[in-house]
Parts: sequence; C-alpha cells; structure tokens
Amino acid sequence: MSVNKEIKRITTNTIQEMKVRGEKISMLTAYDYSMATIVDEAGTDIILVGDSASNVMAGHETTLPITLDQMIYHASSVVRAAKRALVVVDLPFGSYQGNSKEALNSAIRIMKEAGAHAVKIEGGVEIAESVSRILTAGIPVMGHLGLTPQSIYKFGTYTVRAKHEAEAQKLRDDALKLQELGCFGIVLEKIPAKLAQEVSDSLQIPTIGIGAGQHCDGQVLVIHDMLGINKGFKPRFLRQYSNMYDIMHDAIKNYNSDVKSNSFPNEKEQY
Ligand code: KIV
Repeated sequence: MSVNKEIKRITTNTIQEMKVRGEKISMLTAYDYSMATIVDEAGTDIILVGDSASNVMAGHETTLPITLDQMIYHASSVVRAAKRALVVVDLPFGSYQGNSKEALNSAIRIMKEAGAHAVKIEGGVEIAESVSRILTAGIPVMGHLGLTPQSIYKFGTYTVRAKHEAEAQKLRDDALKLQELGCFGIVLEKIPAKLAQEVSDSLQIPTIGIGAGQHCDGQVLVIHDMLGINKGFKPRFLRQYSNMYDIMHDAIKNYNSDVKSNSFPNEKEQY
C-alpha cells in the first residue's frame, strides 16, 4: 500500500515532534517530477531541492552557478510530485548573502512561484539578518552549517570541517543562534560525529546530518549519490544503495543493440 494514503502531509511541526519522540528523520534530494514521485512514495520525510542540482543536473563543478530561476524550475517540478513529504528548497548562491531584503524576495519567489514549503540557507551568524527577515514573512527556514558548499572558494577543499576547537565553537554558537532566530532545523554537513552529537543534544530543533555521524536527528543524501548514478563519487560517509549507473547503462546498451539489429520493435510492439 502506498505511504501517501496512510499518512498526512509532513510539516515543520511533524519534524519537530519526531525529534521529541526520538524518531529519525529521512531526507533526500530530488530535482524533477519523476524522481520526486519515487522519493515521496517511498516514504521520505523531507525532499530537499538542493543547489546540488548545479552539480548533478547541470554538470557544474560547484553549486555556485545555479540561478534562482533554475532553482524555482526544479522546485516547482518536485512540488507537483510530493504528496506527503515536506519540500525544502535551497536559496542559491547570490540570492541572499549580504542583503536581507534580497534574501526575503528570493525566499518569497521560491514559496510563491514553486509552491515550496520551506527554504534552506547556508551560514551562521553572518546571515542572521536575512534569516530573521525571511522568518518574519512566515517562511520556515532550515539552516546549514559545517561544510557549506557555496563557500568552497573560501574553504579551498571539501574536507571535514570544524575539526579544530575555534571552528567547532563557532559552529556551536551558530547552531544556537539559528535556533534562537527560529529555524526549524539545521543541516550539519561533514563535521566530526562527536561534535554533531553534542550540537544535536544541545538543540531543541532537529539536526539533519550528511557526513556528520549517527547521532544527528536525521540524515540526508544526494539522490544521485545514494542510487549510484554518480559513478565516481564515493566519500566515506556515502552508503550506495544501488548501482543505477550500470543498470541504466546496460538497459540503454540493450536498446541500442535491439534498434540496430531490427529486433525492436517486434510485431507485438507495432500498430
Ligand atoms: O544541495 C544539497 O544537496 C545539500 C545537501 C548536501 C544537504 O545542501
């Protein structure tokens, strides 16, 4: 039986209640209608329309090039598919930094034009004004700390963040600040498991980890990575649940060979 028919729409309140009950939260990315339909029907709690679309959908090296218009296009396709999951959409690079009015306008466009349920935004105290302003419009905000890929040119690498005390302390402070401002959850990306546990225990709002260990309140992965569509990407934190690259590759190879040998279509496959 489909999960959709049994359980009503997940909201930010549901997510909060799950933390209180100690029930783990599942989150996956999706960027298009067909994939989002599968992700939703399989019972995923949150669908993230991540700016990782810049990498896996558009082939860019970083998340920086994707535009607000492109995020809205992806998000509106996902929203049409999601019957149960909460749909959270990334504010892309350049749509919120340093200008809280622009941040609010970007968030409003995502909510209005895509029909999203919440936005996600990278950074801590330095984006506090933008977070507050978006929240005052009644738009739920999810934070994102640790490895924040939009700052890759500042970090220089995609290695584990907050291994040293000064950065770990900033992350603790940022997490508390985001909670105090009113964020409904925080993604913790690629930080030591012990720090993620400490932060998760200290917060009332849920943490969703990616490469942040088992003590976060939930987990998120990029769908192309966990399905094995992205053949070359195998970081330690990634569990690959399928080998879709090879499965799809073989299916397409078989199709090509059937077309060339004139065995597709056969008599039953024509009118
Ligand atoms: O864009 C994205 O997919 C993300 C996840 C890695 C958390 O932000």
